Amino acid sequence: MPTEFTPLLQHAGEARQWKLRQLFDDDHQRFDHYSVEAAGLFLDFSKNHISGHTLQLLTDLARACHLEQQRDAMFSGERINVTEDRPVLHTALRLPAQAKLYVDEKDIVSDIQAVLSRIGTFSERVRKGSWRGFANDVITDIVNIGIGGSDLGPAMTCAAMRTFTQDGLRLHFLSNVDGHDIDATLSGLNPRSTLFIVASKSFTTPETMLNAHAARRWFLQQGQEKDLPKHFVAVSTNAAAVQQFGIDTDNMFPFWDWVGGRFSIWSAIGLPLALAIGIERFREFLDGAHAMDTHFQSAPLERNMPVLLALMGFWYRQFFGSSSHLIAPYHHDLALFPSYLQQLEMESNGKGTSRDGQALTTPSAPVIWGSVGSNGQHAYFQLLHQGSDLIPIDFIAALKPAHPHLEQHKVLLANCFAQSEALMRGKSQAEATTDMQAQGMSAEKIQALLPHRIFPGNRPSNTLLMESLTPATLGALVALYEHKVFVQGVLWNINSFDQWGVELGKVLAGRILTELDTGKTELHDSSTAGLIARTRNAM
Ligand code: F6P
Repeated sequence: MPTEFTPLLQHAGEARQWKLRQLFDDDHQRFDHYSVEAAGLFLDFSKNHISGHTLQLLTDLARACHLEQQRDAMFSGERINVTEDRPVLHTALRLPAQAKLYVDEKDIVSDIQAVLSRIGTFSERVRKGSWRGFANDVITDIVNIGIGGSDLGPAMTCAAMRTFTQDGLRLHFLSNVDGHDIDATLSGLNPRSTLFIVASKSFTTPETMLNAHAARRWFLQQGQEKDLPKHFVAVSTNAAAVQQFGIDTDNMFPFWDWVGGRFSIWSAIGLPLALAIGIERFREFLDGAHAMDTHFQSAPLERNMPVLLALMGFWYRQFFGSSSHLIAPYHHDLALFPSYLQQLEMESNGKGTSRDGQALTTPSAPVIWGSVGSNGQHAYFQLLHQGSDLIPIDFIAALKPAHPHLEQHKVLLANCFAQSEALMRGKSQAEATTDMQAQGMSAEKIQALLPHRIFPGNRPSNTLLMESLTPATLGALVALYEHKVFVQGVLWNINSFDQWGVELGKVLAGRILTELDTGKTELHDSSTAGLIARTRNAM
């Protein structure tokens, strides 16, 4: 473990003995002391095993790891993605139009704005019905074909912005190479009123290319080659491959290699969102993220929301042995947010090697998982309350709903707040006994049930609130987690912006694909060879 961690290691030994209940009893202003507001978001982090001293030590560590310098290096376009020798500039995509930022002596903001303006023109044409299909039909269905960052960002944000989406426009997301996905997506669609967006940073990802070719064949059952430009557009950094696929580069929306796939929703990869909610609201989404960027760049570490979120996660991962982190949005339109964060956090910080090529001596990213509340309560929350693992949770909720069912909204929020309280307080032996006595149980029965009715409590959580889920608050929320990931990468000394770990499987899949035809499996272990043989027998 790096020597900078030593003071925290000693302090964590004490903090692990603390009872959250007691911390609240000792400080009646704990909520005020451990909450922070920024960019339309409010973070309550009081239900954590921390004191002022803990925060001091954690922010000392962040400073010792040169967090502020590394943050500034990212924003200014230094080549901090060292293994790919690239800057990391998704934050530039949400800079105000009049800003300037130079990469290799060229202002990239004017390029970004030029693409945004093309996105605006195109999306307004589709939305207003002046972009027509080959038989003059208005576009009613848009199918985004992409995977990973070229799917999760658009799919998650379009779902989140459901209530802002233009009536009559349906967004579909085709990602899986499993043919069931394309079958289900295309069934019921009419090629005359369907627009495909082929979204791939590299434009070489096999899943996306296969699906795009299959969609093209499906389209050509009714349309002709000459009609393709009306129905296929591309989003990519690879103009040559787009052209080779047969999409005119006039119908290509570019972005740049300094935008990582999982950070690309702010680029032309966000085209489905711009189509759904319109360019003005898409710009509000960018502005919300920019507001969070400004906060991240300027707030002192002790009051800096992404830094605090990162420090809380780091604290439990590093010193409390927690290996997973639950994301619990109490907002149905954020149902895909946990999946989005899985890629963002796990592809970024799921590494075992430091930036300078040394094996890490500390754990890195935890498993990120979750789903919407209150559904989760009736499925896996039992383990959170009484299971053996400590699993920190982020509860996320909007105070005002975008629907008229106020009674349901009150119940939803009551459940959200009740869960974090129950997890924090637990239920003591005395409380469980009193409850059961009040229910008129015999002393014998109480004795038998008591061990099952005690909740240990002392389980930490953060609660993130927003007034309502809008393009701006969604932008701020996503940027918040992006910066959380960045901060944790700095603490673990990880390059959060490459993803070499996904390569091996891709190479082996290519080899196995051939072997499914040839049956030559000598190079494999008996398990892989056996699986290939069984498949060949069934085909
Ligand atoms: O294989 C992982 C990955 O490279 C992700 O990082 C990326 O978001 C996804 O594949 C899709 O890549 P592309 O946009 O180049 O198709």
